[in-house]
Amino acid sequence: MNRRTFIKGAMALTALTFTNPTGFICTPTASAEARRWWQSKEVYQIYPKSFLDTTGKGTGDLRGVIRKLDYIKSLGVGAIWLTPVYVSPMVDNGYDIADYTAIDPRFGTLEDFDELIAEAKARDIRIVMDLVYNHTSNKHAWFIESKASRDNPKADWYIWRDEPTNWRSIFGGSAWQWCEERQQYYLHTFATAQPDLNWENPDVRRALYDAANFWLDRGVGGFRIDAIVYIKKPSVFADGAPDSDGTCSVHNVTAATPGILDFLREFKREVFDGRDIFTVAEANSVKPEDLPEWVGSQGVFDMLFEFSHVNVMFNNGDEVWHRAKPIKLSEFKAALTASQRATRDSWYPIYFENHDKPRSVNNFFPHGSDKKLAAKAMATILFTLRGTPFVYQGEELGFANAAFDSIDAYDDISSRGQYDLARADGLSDKQALRFVQKFSRDNARTPMQWDTSANAGFTSGTPWLPVHADFKTCNVEVEERDSDSVLNFYRRLSDLRNGSAVLLGGEYAELYPDSEELYVFTRTLGDKKLCTVVNFTTHEVKLPAQISGAKKILGNYADAKNYLRATEAAIYEL
Ligand code: NOJ
Repeated sequence: MNRRTFIKGAMALTALTFTNPTGFICTPTASAEARRWWQSKEVYQIYPKSFLDTTGKGTGDLRGVIRKLDYIKSLGVGAIWLTPVYVSPMVDNGYDIADYTAIDPRFGTLEDFDELIAEAKARDIRIVMDLVYNHTSNKHAWFIESKASRDNPKADWYIWRDEPTNWRSIFGGSAWQWCEERQQYYLHTFATAQPDLNWENPDVRRALYDAANFWLDRGVGGFRIDAIVYIKKPSVFADGAPDSDGTCSVHNVTAATPGILDFLREFKREVFDGRDIFTVAEANSVKPEDLPEWVGSQGVFDMLFEFSHVNVMFNNGDEVWHRAKPIKLSEFKAALTASQRATRDSWYPIYFENHDKPRSVNNFFPHGSDKKLAAKAMATILFTLRGTPFVYQGEELGFANAAFDSIDAYDDISSRGQYDLARADGLSDKQALRFVQKFSRDNARTPMQWDTSANAGFTSGTPWLPVHADFKTCNVEVEERDSDSVLNFYRRLSDLRNGSAVLLGGEYAELYPDSEELYVFTRTLGDKKLCTVVNFTTHEVKLPAQISGAKKILGNYADAKNYLRATEAAIYEL
């Protein structure tokens, strides 16, 4: 048992220094020997509720993941990130945890989980869990005790105040909820049912570290750490700069509060150090220039999901969907380039999709773009930037957004919050719905499409969310048979990356940063140089001079021309 000792109250948080115990080197010239296992394979993200249902209840389960391990292996995957499978009332589909060390019966049992770890390991795949440590469910025993009185042993495990501020929760509505029992308000950065933990209390931190070590001792290969930027709150709680409705997003007042790194360094020492794992933290609003403090040998985590490229349509970390502006390609590219530069001496998790984001074929390409070409174009970027590609289930098949025609059809709690916000800002039902259709998290949560049978082979019952209408043509079975499918293109890209020292370790440089048509970048290692070119328009664009005459290695059009066709993506050897 590899348990850490945590000495209550005895920690001089700021005085601690750390070395990277596993000593990975991730400079551009890192050799194959120095590369860690999670740097050379991609990670596949599974949203278990929508992956495969083996019992007919309409929601996916762990046995469904076990059943599809060979498929996952065939994608070239080294790790699976599972979104939360802990006991939960499912107000936020598992991101509201009621027991950190138990599997929710909807997903299966601890034995199923152990079998998943073993079966995955037999295929050289590690299982990575989601740690949701900013908040618990309001049904967690800790919260039930905390809310009972002002003087119980867990009274200050959460954040209680006599007066609320004007902070708005990320899912909409006040971030404060009145509690009759205590006659006080508690803070919830997300839903009312997700009260924020008080990280200032060392007992809280110890309980969280123990839970993480429980899973590491069972053999998990690492963690994706949820909403970590919110764990540290400001020392004084005051109203923030008001929006048009008088509220201020809690994000703007609490994200990445100074002092947070002291907590995180302790977390690292108590849980991550000395383990052969990787950590990737979700950190909306950590700026690329601050990344060195957060990731790599001088930082806390191995990788960090920052949002600058996927939130380029929003003015700041506060994602108000109806205030989104059209994506400017140069800004999207600049965000990626800034992250690539900032992680030059560490490592970057490359992603365009996850369970919170719209499908990228709809998100990043102009209306009218060919969906299949667009999916392959995004994949070309995903596999040729420097870092570990994170592929979200269905992305490898070219899944598109599923627009439902009424707000009532949406399950996602944030979709309903955003809809209300838009209505309160004076938008009509139709206008508000249009933004929900564009940005809803349910776009990414429709069931996985396995074959052409009923419900795309996801369930023999009634799926919890409708299967996408395109499932007859866009599914694993059909795409396996089609050598030109998005799926088989992913496999080619994966093979290319995994066998290429340039793609694994080479230096990144962007060309033509001001172009609003093309994304062009090179990867260089020694005298070898590869160049990725993607045409983000629906018209032909002249091939950049540097590439003209170069050898094309792979692309979403079979042949090569001396111009780029609509949505064309290609990798050249220079
Ligand atoms: C980020 C997760 O990805 C999202 O799905 C969740 O709703 C929030 N954090 C709250 O835990």
